[in-house]
Amino acid sequence: MKLKINNTEYEIRNPTRTLLSVLRDELNLLGAKEGCGIGVCGACTVLIDDKPQSSCLMLAVQCAEKEIVTIEGLAREGVLHRVQQAFYDHAAFQCAYCTPGFILATVALLNENSAPSDDDIREYLSGNLCRCGSYVNILRAVRAASDA
Ligand code: FES
Ligand code: FES
Repeated sequence: MKLKINNTEYEIRNPTRTLLSVLRDELNLLGAKEGCGIGVCGACTVLIDDKPQSSCLMLAVQCAEKEIVTIEGLAREGVLHRVQQAFYDHAAFQCAYCTPGFILATVALLNENSAPSDDDIREYLSGNLCRCGSYVNILRAVRAASDA
């Protein structure tokens, strides 16, 4: 089967594996991370038809005919997406293991709500965990991205 990821079609050898496994082990797209593996931490978040989804909980075969976006697909011609730039500018990470998931969830949030309140941001990103505790700077970065 084929998957459309970041506007590119990929032929998939193992469609009954999780989407996370296919991304990382088959396609070498290493931005989505495995944290909990059970849909709790958000480290594996990708966008599927513009919605944030835990790629550890989905089989690749469930994503046929869908548009998948990973962190590798956000920058355009070497220019960071405004959410990536805001995370960079506000040092919204320490180890950065959680960062691709937070950034993709933020992109989805701002697509749905271009001027979220702090409570909106906290609620929307509540499925993304940061073990380093960078939440204050993440909130600043999301605010900056929404103002940009
Ligand atoms: S690894 Fe998928 S939610 Fe934690
Ligand atoms: S920056 Fe390390 S887990 Fe978030």
